[in-house]
Amino acid sequence: MRTVFVFNGPNLSRLGTREPDVYGAETFEDLEALCRRTGRDLGLTVDVRQTDDEAELVSWLHEAADGAVPVVLNPAAFTHYSYALRDAIAQRTAPLIEVHISNPAAREEFRHTSVVAAVASGTIAGFGLRSYELALRAIAETA
Ligand code: DQA
Repeated sequence: MRTVFVFNGPNLSRLGTREPDVYGAETFEDLEALCRRTGRDLGLTVDVRQTDDEAELVSWLHEAADGAVPVVLNPAAFTHYSYALRDAIAQRTAPLIEVHISNPAAREEFRHTSVVAAVASGTIAGFGLRSYELALRAIAETA
């Protein structure tokens, strides 16, 4: 079965307790279960990870590039300022979809900039945890 990585950046381990009015009541464990379930339906093996550490996220993106593994990536706050992440994504050798639970374009101005969008295959934002499901479907249908 084809493997897909689902990488999550800082503070996403705190889903469920973190600003539930913005990110909903579901936990990171719920997100993992949703991704695994969706992967099973689509015939994909889904490897879900979360880190608060920019260097670790960069090293995971290198691993994806070296293995030509498609990625669903929620870069969280790194979206808005991490050129290191952007440079790592630019090395990708398979589709990479940027996802967001909320719709950053409808929030504070600093969230309107994504420094990674231009090097991603595409972006899905604003559908809650369903953003991940839609991204996995897009990968299954196009990768
Ligand atoms: C987020 C949006 C970002 O602006 C924020 O920093 C996050 C989560 C989202 O999934 O909606 O941590 O990426």
